[in-house]
Amino acid sequence: MTVDPGGPNERDVDALADAEPIKAGEVIRIRTTGGGGWGDPLARDPELVVRDVVWRKVSVEAALRDYGVVLTGSLDDSSTGSGQALGYDADATAAERASRPAWESDDDAFFDRGPGYAQLAGEHSARMSTSADLSVAVLGGHGKTGQSVCRALAARGVSARALGRGDLAAPGGLTAALRGCVALYLLAPNMHPDELSYAEEALAAARAAGVSRVVHHSVASPFAPSMPHHLAKAHAEDAVRRSGLAWTVLQPGAYVQNFLPALRADVPELAVPYDVHALFGFADLVDVGEVAAEVIISPEGHLGATYEIAGPGLASVSDVASAAARVLGREVACRRTDPGGWADGPGAGLPERERAWLLRMFDHYDRHGLPVGGRGVRAVLGRDGLPLVEVVRRELG
Ligand SMILES: NC(=O)c1ccc[n+]([C@@H]2O[C@H](COP(=O)([O-])OP(=O)(O)OC[C@H]3O[C@@H](n4cnc5c(N)ncnc54)[C@H](OP(=O)(O)O)[C@@H]3O)[C@@H](O)[C@H]2O)c1
Repeated sequence: MTVDPGGPNERDVDALADAEPIKAGEVIRIRTTGGGGWGDPLARDPELVVRDVVWRKVSVEAALRDYGVVLTGSLDDSSTGSGQALGYDADATAAERASRPAWESDDDAFFDRGPGYAQLAGEHSARMSTSADLSVAVLGGHGKTGQSVCRALAARGVSARALGRGDLAAPGGLTAALRGCVALYLLAPNMHPDELSYAEEALAAARAAGVSRVVHHSVASPFAPSMPHHLAKAHAEDAVRRSGLAWTVLQPGAYVQNFLPALRADVPELAVPYDVHALFGFADLVDVGEVAAEVIISPEGHLGATYEIAGPGLASVSDVASAAARVLGREVACRRTDPGGWADGPGAGLPERERAWLLRMFDHYDRHGLPVGGRGVRAVLGRDGLPLVEVVRRELG
């Protein structure tokens, strides 16, 4: 940094100088370092590369090595105006550039400070590089939710490491499996008997492995004491918020996809042991995956946030049946069954605890449904969730 360049008080001062007296009207000249550039260097106009070399912003060697420009003439002659000024050989430059590997548009991240920066910053301020060497661990990644999250991450060029019981049992356990990951997507299996301990162990493993960020897959209305598996998620959310890791919590409503097996049956029918007109905020699993991928890849603004995930508008099981009838072009029956009959029939094969927990969930659904607002999806993705009928059309159409 130069103060008063060319003037009587010209002096160089440190770039971080403090309390430097500057007179009114005095010029301050700041020369910054060169930037890394953006886009394909082989697509830069060779004339501009020649100009950069003349201006000493790019060296003669870099013009060829980085830009594939075969220079002619001499840099010294360009400065003195004698001899052959600097130029380039168009044919040789075209041949040189054609011999280089094609530019990967994936490398075109606007700010890509590299994996080291992203890891040190814990993603607090950096958009994650899309390079595949930045792994995200998805615990519970082999189930239907985990697969949807992994698919959405992969579609955005981020490599997802799906983890399950095999990784927990392997030498080094979860800590070893998490090493090198920039974030953990924490997903408990359905109806886990001790979800709080499961979450606490995963959070401890993340800390031990140096993973600085967690996205917790919870549920809408976690604090519902009448439903033990919801309440367990409220406790797990609390553990996440007190984990010392940077966190985001997602609270999806009941998945539309839960109904697909019944809708794909030879005689499609929705028979549920609760009020078929009770209102829900149903979530599309594809939207869940996309919201998850977005908050993982672009954490800025999402750290410390809790989002409900559901489609636009509330709907009942009866509405799901109507949507399916429209898509399939045939009648789809919909009826409430007796919870006792469910326990002795479809629920009979479940472990007693799970059956009891599900009966409590059906009772809650019967009385209150599970309404969820749809604005969370818009807040994250900038669009509403897919409407119910469109989800059904995509899945069954
Ligand atoms: N269904 C819904 O409508 C809904 C709505 C909102 C939230 N949720 C929540 O979403 C979460 C995920 O549901 P999901 O149906 O995708 O999960 P899931 O299929 O029940 O489980 C995911 C994976 O967890 C692993 N797993 C199973 N038992 C385990 C155990 N005892 N310990 C450790 N890992 C175990 C399995 O993978 P491995 O075989 O590889 O071990 C399984 O593929 C649940 O917490 C659920 O409450 C669901």
